Amino acid sequence: MRGNYNMKPDYPQKRNEIGPWLTERGLTGDGVEVGVFEGSYSEVLLRTSQLKTLYLVDIWEQVPTDEYHKPGKPCGRTGEQILNSIMRNFDKLYPGRYRPIRKPSVEASTVFVYGSLDFVYIDADHSYQAVMDDIAAWLPKVKPGGVIAGHDYKCPAVHRAVLDSFRPIGLKPVSTNEPGRSWVVKVPVVL
Ligand SMILES: C[S@@+](CC[C@H](N)C(=O)[O-])C[C@H]1O[C@@H](n2cnc3c(N)ncnc32)[C@H](O)[C@@H]1O
Repeated sequence: MRGNYNMKPDYPQKRNEIGPWLTERGLTGDGVEVGVFEGSYSEVLLRTSQLKTLYLVDIWEQVPTDEYHKPGKPCGRTGEQILNSIMRNFDKLYPGRYRPIRKPSVEASTVFVYGSLDFVYIDADHSYQAVMDDIAAWLPKVKPGGVIAGHDYKCPAVHRAVLDSFRPIGLKPVSTNEPGRSWVVKVPVVL
């Protein structure tokens, strides 16, 4: 997959730059992280963006153990323990700015109105079909001018699913330039 990435200087070069980049574009409404695990990237998003509310979608049933963090074997902490620890931390750090939704990704997407979200970040099941399904479910929920993105673009199944999802609608995802690449797509005003 070396060299097969579309990078642009006016896009974030690292996923930790996505938060301020959203603010520069006036994207300060509601956002969703799909696949949260222990909330380390949620914390970055809450700290670095001005998103009004960040919805945290995860099943919190199994923990990621394999190379691309698909749900794997339990590692000593239950889903409840992980979620409770996120809530304890975020209640102190970001009170009122986050809401956990403990549901599978596609089911969770039905909670949101079409075109209502400023930002969605997909980092859940990294299999080809799951990423296709996640993009199909969440893309319509992002408002025109909003942003949809996701992690592990260098994972071959993710890469293929992202390209296959956006090619038919004429959109070319842009890649961050870091080891665990993210893909980023600005949703056009007219699709
Ligand atoms: C790689 S981890 C997320 C890491 C997190 N985004 C970060 O960067 O800190 C993937 C998470 O996705 C969750 N997950 C996997 N399949 C899911 C699904 N269908 N719906 C919701 N969450 C899912 C797993 O429970 C796991 O916690």
